[in-house]
Formats: sequence, structure tokens, C-alpha cells
Amino acid sequence: MNNEAMGSTTAIIVAIFFLVTGSTCLKLVRLNVPPYKMRGELAILECLYELEGDNLYAVKWYKENEEFYRYVPKSEPKILSYRVEGIKVDHSLSDSKQVALRGVNLKSSGIYRCEVSAEAPSFASAHREARMEVIFLPSHGPHIAGSGKQYYMIGDEINLNCTSAKSYPASVLHWFINDQQVSDTEGLVRYPHVVHTHGLITTILGLRTTVAPQHFIGGSMKLKCVASLSPVLWQGEGESIVQSMSPLLDNREAMLLVKGEAIRNMITVPLLVITILLAFLRS
Ligand SMILES: *[C@@H]1O[C@H](CO)[C@@H](O)[C@H](O)[C@H]1NC(C)=O
Repeated sequence: MNNEAMGSTTAIIVAIFFLVTGSTCLKLVRLNVPPYKMRGELAILECLYELEGDNLYAVKWYKENEEFYRYVPKSEPKILSYRVEGIKVDHSLSDSKQVALRGVNLKSSGIYRCEVSAEAPSFASAHREARMEVIFLPSHGPHIAGSGKQYYMIGDEINLNCTSAKSYPASVLHWFINDQQVSDTEGLVRYPHVVHTHGLITTILGLRTTVAPQHFIGGSMKLKCVASLSPVLWQGEGESIVQSMSPLLDNREAMLLVKGEAIRNMITVPLLVITILLAFLRS
């Protein structure tokens, strides 16, 4: 390669470099998509950008690659929204930097993308995406059902099921005997999740164990089932998602734990009084 050819190659590379990284083109600074929303809530999705001297052509929002919102300042009307399942845009709360979704439901869960583009001469564009998950809280606590056995003696088999109310994501169940969590090796029976239409999930956890003397404290035994719901941790692509996730998650954990207790049976056996406490978790 001669000097002249090398010089022009360098010039082209420099030109491409400036086209790609040019300091005067628009930048997408931040995408704020709430990682979790309760069913029925209003969700505000923000797309923050800097034009850096460019003229805005359009801001477009997509859910799973389907466009549902467009803001074009030079057209009339400026705002257009398109029919996409699970999306109801509130035009009065939406503009060039945010889009508001009314009454989110399970179908609103998914990956949202904001795409910003500039007019000539730069025609620059930028996009980012993040996931939003809609949570459906159980309407009541879990319930315990079993063999309907009235009398328990040492050596008898306990065979009970704890069933959660419908929720999304799935509730996690734990059995406790006298406030001690029962482990898998001590008689838990795991059943597959029941998935209902609309994606709601019922979880069932069985307890199958033999009544032993150490189960009785002061002549009684307490059985409890606890259901909890924590949002799935999605690993987002933008750092902003991970940052906003931690404080939110703590909050959810406390809120989503459904709790409570009620006495159901008092069973008398010769020389032995067994109390079975059924625990219902209520928020
Ligand atoms: C527990 O639930 C499973 C799955 O629905 C069922 O097959 C089983 O018979 C139930 N056991 C009891 C003790 O109710």
C-alpha cells in the first residue's frame, strides 16, 4: 500500500468514527421501566434522552417488538397509539419523554423498548429495552386439607396438602411443625404447579410424615403452612434496571408475605392432646 492510499484509508476510518461516535448526536441517557407492577396499577415508563443539537424526529415505544406508541412533534396529532394486547396508553399522561399505561394486567408483562430518532442531517437513533413484570397477589391465604382424620396417635401418618390461592408468579409454600421448617427429607411432597387460564398459578405442597413423640411439646403439635410471593428477579440488560431493583425488592418482600393463624381442631387421644393449628397467611 502506498502512502496516498494509506492516507485516504485513514481519512475514511476517521470519518466513520465521527459518524458513529459524533459528539453532536442524540443520546439515550436512561430508560426507566418499573421492574414490577401490581395488577391494575398505572405504570409510567420513562425514556430520557438528550438531543445534543439534533432535531427530534420521533420517539417510539415497543412491547416485544410491537409498536404501541409514537410521538412525532412535527405531525398532527403528535401522539399516536396502537392496539397491542395488555396495553392501554393514557394519552393525557404521555408525552415525548414518557408513556403511561393504565390498569396493567398479566398480559402487560414483557420487554419494553424505547427508540429515539433524529431528523436530517444526522438521522441518528438510539434505543434501549427493559423488562416489566406484572404481579397478581393471592386473594386469600393458603389452605390445609387432608385425610379428614379425627384422631392422631404416635405412629399415625399425617397426610395433608397445603394449597395456595392463585397468584402470579407462583407462591412459595413452606410447612412448619412447631415453628420448625420441615425439610424435603422430612416428608414434603412436591406436586406440579397448576396453571390456570390467564397464567395464574396454584401451588400445592404435601406433608407426609409419621407422628412421633418428639412432635409433642406440652402435649400438642402445631402444623403451619406459610405462603410467600416474591417477584422473579429478571436480569435486565441495562444497569439502571439492576440499580432500581434492590430497594423495591425489600419493600415487596414485606408487603407480599401473607400471614395469620387460626385454630381448627383439638383432638383428644388417650394420654395425649394434639392440637393442630392451621395457619392462614393473610396480608
Ligand atoms: C394432595 O394433592 C394432590 C394433587 O392434587 C392429590 O393427588 C392428593 O391426593 C392430595 N392429597 C391429600 C392428602 O389431599
